Amino acid sequence: MAQAGGERVHLKGEVGSMLTKSQPNPTGCLFQQGKEEVTKEGGKKVKINKLTFRQYMALVYIFSKLNTKGEYPKKEEIKRVIGFSSDRMLQITLKALEEKGFIIFHGLNCNPMVEITEEAKKYSSVLVDKLFLTNRYVKYDDIKDKIGTIPKKSYIKVATSFLELDLDYLNNSKKIVHRWCDLLEDFPPSLVWSKFKEYKLAPGHIVLDPFAGSGTTLVTAKLLGIDAIGIDVNPVASFISEVKTTWDVDLQMFKKEADAIISALIKASGILDEVRITTKAFENMDTMELYQWLKPRTQNDVAFTKERINEVKDERIKKLLLLALIVAAREASNVSFCPGTTFYPFRKRPSFLDAFRNKCEEIYEDLFTLAKIDKDYGEITIFNADSRDISYIEPNSVDFILTSPPYPNDLEYTRQTRLELYLLDFVKNMEDIKKIKMKMVKGSTKLIYKDSCSAKYIKKFDSIQKIVEKLKRAFSDKKWGWDYPRMVEEYFGDLYIVLENIREVMREGGYALFVVGQQTYKKILIPTGLILAEMAKDLGFQDITVETFRTRRNTLHDIPLKEEIVAFRK
Ligand SMILES: C[S@@+](CC[C@H](N)C(=O)[O-])C[C@H]1O[C@@H](n2cnc3c(N)ncnc32)[C@H](O)[C@@H]1O
Repeated sequence: MAQAGGERVHLKGEVGSMLTKSQPNPTGCLFQQGKEEVTKEGGKKVKINKLTFRQYMALVYIFSKLNTKGEYPKKEEIKRVIGFSSDRMLQITLKALEEKGFIIFHGLNCNPMVEITEEAKKYSSVLVDKLFLTNRYVKYDDIKDKIGTIPKKSYIKVATSFLELDLDYLNNSKKIVHRWCDLLEDFPPSLVWSKFKEYKLAPGHIVLDPFAGSGTTLVTAKLLGIDAIGIDVNPVASFISEVKTTWDVDLQMFKKEADAIISALIKASGILDEVRITTKAFENMDTMELYQWLKPRTQNDVAFTKERINEVKDERIKKLLLLALIVAAREASNVSFCPGTTFYPFRKRPSFLDAFRNKCEEIYEDLFTLAKIDKDYGEITIFNADSRDISYIEPNSVDFILTSPPYPNDLEYTRQTRLELYLLDFVKNMEDIKKIKMKMVKGSTKLIYKDSCSAKYIKKFDSIQKIVEKLKRAFSDKKWGWDYPRMVEEYFGDLYIVLENIREVMREGGYALFVVGQQTYKKILIPTGLILAEMAKDLGFQDITVETFRTRRNTLHDIPLKEEIVAFRK
């Protein structure tokens, strides 16, 4: 099968053949020989995965320009691709590339400013990217006209479907539907399953997950025939939960549409190799941000597929295909989530096409299996909203809550889902992102704004105040970006409001289970579970228990961090 996406680059010629060793330089500048380790050309081992994003952008541009135009780029061009207009930042970037052994940096006013080292030339096949430099653009409609009629072909394999139709096996071992898409910090489907069994939940009960994430609680509830409500403030999370709990679709139609899209993508791949597609898909995303996520060739695949999905009439099928699109885009991306959002441009990734096809197959197989089971699945209602206000839920109506709020671990969820937020048109700019961040539980310092004001609700808790004081002392020398004391206060203040709210909507005798994680900053432990238990007691909840669910190791120190399940009854 033809491959689209990935990291294919077509070298016009050998980059190395265009280069000469340090020649007399036309501007008469003295070459800066730099540090000893760099001047021994080829002597230094270059580590391609050690490049930062800006260094990568500069290097790819240098390689690509040399390869396509036979010349080194000018100062202003590299400034443009690294997103800085100052000489200082350009100098820092080029010096870093020199120190890492990729280039010889002659100086900003020299011509050429840089030369590629022999060692770096070995990587020309991954560093030359002709789409990076092209000014040839083509519209989606023109590509469609060019590829003409597309033969009917089946790429989605006819579902073999799981032989076992046992729900326990499907949920816990096969992770049916759960596997379509996960988000960082989701909890395992088997945990939800075992807790549903332990608390004897059954059809007729109402379950709530006020921090639904990728919908693990909701999918399990639906599978067991239990109605559930899910809330998440991040529209990407709500979208994922909604799609994962909409099982009533015309499967033959889904297969037909998915096959047609894959066929079109394969047929268009020759064009998408050569020219950029003008598209609305990324028009709102900052260019630097976009390149951090996707290489130009993958951008072409994603944009083409999105345009094609937009032609699908059936809204449910369209959303399933969009889910496959965002998961495939992420799988083919440069970004990895451990730790944080890290840029790995040279990590081996599946092509977008393969990832998209696999996802469509998974979706088809799971929906096919679910349709074979004779069962009334639960009804799921999703709200894209802030759980600090759930006044729209009927008081005393919820039987059971199983949820996992953000942890106070400085993880910023809109950063993890930035690509999807733009791809699904939920945001147009940073202002829109800020609006989402402002409504989030403050598990990260990056979520705190001038008017964040939940700290006032937890002043009465000595345990929290003691931690805040310790953190203040530990971070007294830091001025910016380290506001952990404030984050901790806001975080527990937010959770206190949520606990107050859920008390209203829970039925008398109903249970709530919160899965939370401990955290440390400068070895100061934040015992999230114990503090949550204390706040639950303050609000009049009973039968409070704290159970260790698993233990994580922090990469920075040796203190094991517990993830705990705090359970309490109204
Ligand atoms: C730890 S994740 C939940 C993971 C989920 N249990 C799963 O299995 O995917 C926490 C979620 O809380 C959401 N969130 C943060 N602040 C919120 C708020 N104020 N209201 C509702 N959801 C919020 C985040 O967007 C994130 O999806």
